[in-house]
Amino acid sequence: MNTYGIDIWAEDNFFINDGKVKINYASCPAIIDIVKNIGKDGYKGPLTLRFPHLIHKQLNTLYSKFDASIKEYGYKGKFNAVFPLKVNQYPSFLQPLIQEGKKYNYGLEAGSKAELLIAMAYNNPKAPITVNGFKDKEMIHLGFIAKQMKHDVTLTIEGLNELNTIIEVFKETKLPCPNIGLRVKLHSAGSGIWAKSGGIDSKFGLSSTEILDAFEILEANEMTQYLTMIHFHIGSSMNSISPLKKALKESGNIYAELKNMGANNLRAINIGGGLAIEYSQFQRSRFYSLDEFTNDVVYILKDIARQKNVEEPDIFTESGRFIAANSTVLITPVLELYSSQLEIKNLRLKDTNPPLITELYDLYNDMTRKTALEFMHDSLEHMESLLTLFDLGYIDLQDRSNAEVLAHLIIKKAILILEVKDYTELKTIEKRIKEKYLLNFSIFQSLPDFWGIDQEFPVMPLTHLDKTPTRSASLWDITCDSDGEIGFDNNKPLYLHDINLKEEEYFLAFFNVGAYQDIMGIKHNLFSHPTQINVTFENNEYKLEKILESQNILDILKDIDYDTNEIKEIFKNNLDEQNYKLLEEYLHDNSYLNTIGN
Ligand SMILES: Cc1ncc(COP(=O)(O)O)c(C=O)c1O
Repeated sequence: MNTYGIDIWAEDNFFINDGKVKINYASCPAIIDIVKNIGKDGYKGPLTLRFPHLIHKQLNTLYSKFDASIKEYGYKGKFNAVFPLKVNQYPSFLQPLIQEGKKYNYGLEAGSKAELLIAMAYNNPKAPITVNGFKDKEMIHLGFIAKQMKHDVTLTIEGLNELNTIIEVFKETKLPCPNIGLRVKLHSAGSGIWAKSGGIDSKFGLSSTEILDAFEILEANEMTQYLTMIHFHIGSSMNSISPLKKALKESGNIYAELKNMGANNLRAINIGGGLAIEYSQFQRSRFYSLDEFTNDVVYILKDIARQKNVEEPDIFTESGRFIAANSTVLITPVLELYSSQLEIKNLRLKDTNPPLITELYDLYNDMTRKTALEFMHDSLEHMESLLTLFDLGYIDLQDRSNAEVLAHLIIKKAILILEVKDYTELKTIEKRIKEKYLLNFSIFQSLPDFWGIDQEFPVMPLTHLDKTPTRSASLWDITCDSDGEIGFDNNKPLYLHDINLKEEEYFLAFFNVGAYQDIMGIKHNLFSHPTQINVTFENNEYKLEKILESQNILDILKDIDYDTNEIKEIFKNNLDEQNYKLLEEYLHDNSYLNTIGN
């Protein structure tokens, strides 16, 4: 049986039982049952299911692991964490996170004015806010207003001009000054696809000379007391720990040097994000444990503080992916198997057929366990020859259609007869015999990191998990774009079930999509976000909450600046009443195809 690597990536959050994927919590419902319930309410298209209990689990894990390391090493600094808003700003995600974070004084990180305003409105009282990224005077002024609202806000400067602007705003407004952090440009870059966020060539942070300049500027303006934090971020999803260890040593020494130079209020090192989760279904790709991560952070910072005789700094993290990714599952209904039309009843054999067609027909009828593989090879070759004959005008469309049907039937029969166990027999030709599964979703909207940077996400069917999947699969989305495909990859093969969709539904689920995907998705072909639903638990049973429906077509058009009244007027003037009414209904619908299931 294929378990789709659930033991590798699921962290015991999901399990397979009775052929279904189930949630390992409370009454352990099957995801398919939740999806079917939602379907009854008429939502169409893909679904984004969010599980707040998993957001809570990640947060509690992060704090308890740091707590354990701090105890183990007798560390004197405190642990603090903020959530980087860029990872997921949706209220349905944030509200449960902020609520759970209250007990820890968990804060927020903002990288833009809009994010800072969210933080100022919703952050837990007294919890930290860190502000990263490039800032103009207006954004810095917002930081001062946040401070006035009694937020514990730190403006992390990315360049000396930002420091000068802080001083300018301080002098102009005479408002209390927020804390100041220095983002340092380290030599150590991370590992993994996002490594370029760190390292000496990174877009962000101050060089050693600039750090010294910054300190001198603060001294000259009698503002050294506002310098409280050193910050770095070596890149998201680091798959090995060694770059972080180097970065801790570098930043720890910078912290100690500044303290010894007279930065008396400097008291924290913010290690940014980068803590990875497992995305692979095939083999582990994160080569460190959470214990190793927290132990290394605490131990290295303690060791440097001891060596340099300075107080042990408070530790801040800005982990986003680790907190958010596994809370969210994307459900996509399968609309069609590409070859579903290629059935025996579609054969249109003639009284006299071209010899290769007759041969294909015989291969199909005479196939045995012993000849299956050989006949499948032969059929693929015959198919190639028949396509060439068609191009040269020697066979007609009816012959070509018969060739397609027969070749497909032979492949299907061979797969069935061979009772494929480990697929080794088919390995060499899998790409050519793959089935294409058409899914009711947009890769550009729902898996932008797959489209942009080939990020892998665990994918599996919600049902049929007690049956061996026999079809090597490639996945097509419904956008009109050939990039909207997850092709079959021999190195990471996806096998799915051979389903008759006229008789039963089949859903695929993409897991670990809660970080970055929701907000980075784009409306290519004007598909908006899927309907999002929080699945919470009360008295052991699940409840559906915070439903955010996929945008309707009018709203999508409004977003890109169409005058929707004008559009309606055009249709009104050109259609009779009955057709106009119908069209209005379509305008109030979303763009996805009209089904949750089949
Ligand atoms: C400054 C900063 N902090 C935190 C993060 C979050 O990183 P992650 O999601 O890998 O934890 C990022 C992401 O790019 C970042 O730029």
